[in-house]
Amino acid sequence: MQTDFVTMAGLDPKHITVILLATFSVILCAEAVPGWEKLSKEEELDLDRQLKLINKPAIKSFQTEDGDVIDCVDIYKQHAFDHPMLKNHKIQMKPTTIPKGIRNHESETTYKSLQYMLGNISCPQGSVPIKRATRKDLIMARHIKSIGFNHPTNTNASTSGIDEGGHHYAGVAYRAFVVGGRANINVWNPSVKVNQFSIASMSISKGPKQQMNNVQVGWGVNKALYPDGSRLYTYWTGDGYQKTGCFNTLCPGFVQVSTKIHLGLNLRPVSTYKGSQFHIAVSIQQDNSTGNWLLTFFNEYVGYWPKALFTTMADGADYISWAGSTYSIITDPTPTMGSGHFPKEGGYGISAFVNSIQIMPNRFYKFVSPLYYVLDTFADVPQCYDVIKNVAKDPNWGAYIFFGGPGNCTFQ
Ligand SMILES: *[C@@H]1O[C@H](CO)[C@@H](O)[C@H](O)[C@H]1NC(C)=O
Ligand SMILES: *[C@@H]1O[C@H](CO)[C@@H](O)[C@H](O)[C@H]1NC(C)=O
Ligand SMILES: *[C@@H]1O[C@H](CO)[C@@H](O)[C@H](O)[C@H]1NC(C)=O
Ligand SMILES: *[C@@H]1O[C@H](CO)[C@@H](O)[C@H](O)[C@H]1NC(C)=O
Repeated sequence: MQTDFVTMAGLDPKHITVILLATFSVILCAEAVPGWEKLSKEEELDLDRQLKLINKPAIKSFQTEDGDVIDCVDIYKQHAFDHPMLKNHKIQMKPTTIPKGIRNHESETTYKSLQYMLGNISCPQGSVPIKRATRKDLIMARHIKSIGFNHPTNTNASTSGIDEGGHHYAGVAYRAFVVGGRANINVWNPSVKVNQFSIASMSISKGPKQQMNNVQVGWGVNKALYPDGSRLYTYWTGDGYQKTGCFNTLCPGFVQVSTKIHLGLNLRPVSTYKGSQFHIAVSIQQDNSTGNWLLTFFNEYVGYWPKALFTTMADGADYISWAGSTYSIITDPTPTMGSGHFPKEGGYGISAFVNSIQIMPNRFYKFVSPLYYVLDTFADVPQCYDVIKNVAKDPNWGAYIFFGGPGNCTFQ
């Protein structure tokens, strides 16, 4: 299968679409037929072999209401350390520097249930919570990976109206040296079909498209992977989405440190139209002394992507974006993004927001609010998904965007 990604990455866009249609119909059949009868015996065995590598022995396990199994795995035996670059890796248990400028204001939009979310899963000392991977995770992740997950890169945003994979975006970007960023991302549960996704994320990258290094965090909805709604997700790549990288902890790379917050966490409740609003607070920063890219969720240090995974992002990055993004196969109407409402229809409670956008533009380890003009807005199909940016006088709101739209656009 690995070879397939490589081959597909080299194909021209028309061929990719054809292959995708073929592979997605396989998934859909598999979805429809319980027990994965559509997979050959060899494919099943191959998936099981992979799962055996990914899922490490559990010291203790939790079953969530959504049916996920969360395993507490010995922190030194997690799948991350199967990465050849991470032999004899020294785990970074704490950030070297706690950045200045982090605001921890409580507001209506803060997760009232965060304590509840944090309280439920707590792994014994020396172990960390990792969502147990399933065959379905691998099948979907494989296809999502193979389509490149083209988050806006440091090439110019497409203006042609449609790009090859049926990816669409609306957000803002800062294009200059950067070692970190943070934001509050308003959480929704947009309507998507089984072979579509809709996400909102903060994404940091560097490098030419073919070798792009990228780390991203946000919420995502994908009916096959997460049938029950919006989840905390991460993604990384060290080579332009070709051979390296994956969602969450499905491949060796991300080192989990928190004993409480796992990747793939179900985010609830979600915001409602003209009703209560909820957000997640996320930050990513490159550690001053180790060069690792550290992930924080609210005040919890979740873990990190080791410096060794990256080529161009070993020393800082040159692009950071905050955006909504959708994917659908090209013949389908596109899914909704954010709340499903355009920014022009209204702000808070109507369209989705990202606020308190902050960047760490140098090695002084301070998050600062970017000035209005340094954020570039991009929206590849503004008639389907749009974005507006502004900087509020209220420091709790700061630099922000409203983004999204109803989708349901067809391009063929
Ligand atoms: C958390 O634990 C409480 C008490 O055991 C339970 O009622 C609740 O459903 C759990 N929540 C989740 C999200 O699993
Ligand atoms: C983006 O577009 C501008 C204007 O067309 C061009 O000058 C610049 O080089 C482009 N940047 C990249 C990274 O392609
Ligand atoms: C970051 O590292 C540099 C070089 O090692 C050092 O000069 C600087 O003081 C460090 N900054 C902080 C905030 O620790
Ligand atoms: C999507 O667009 C089609 C064709 O314009 C329309 O018939 C349908 O009602 C729309 N669906 C939604 C959910 O708006």
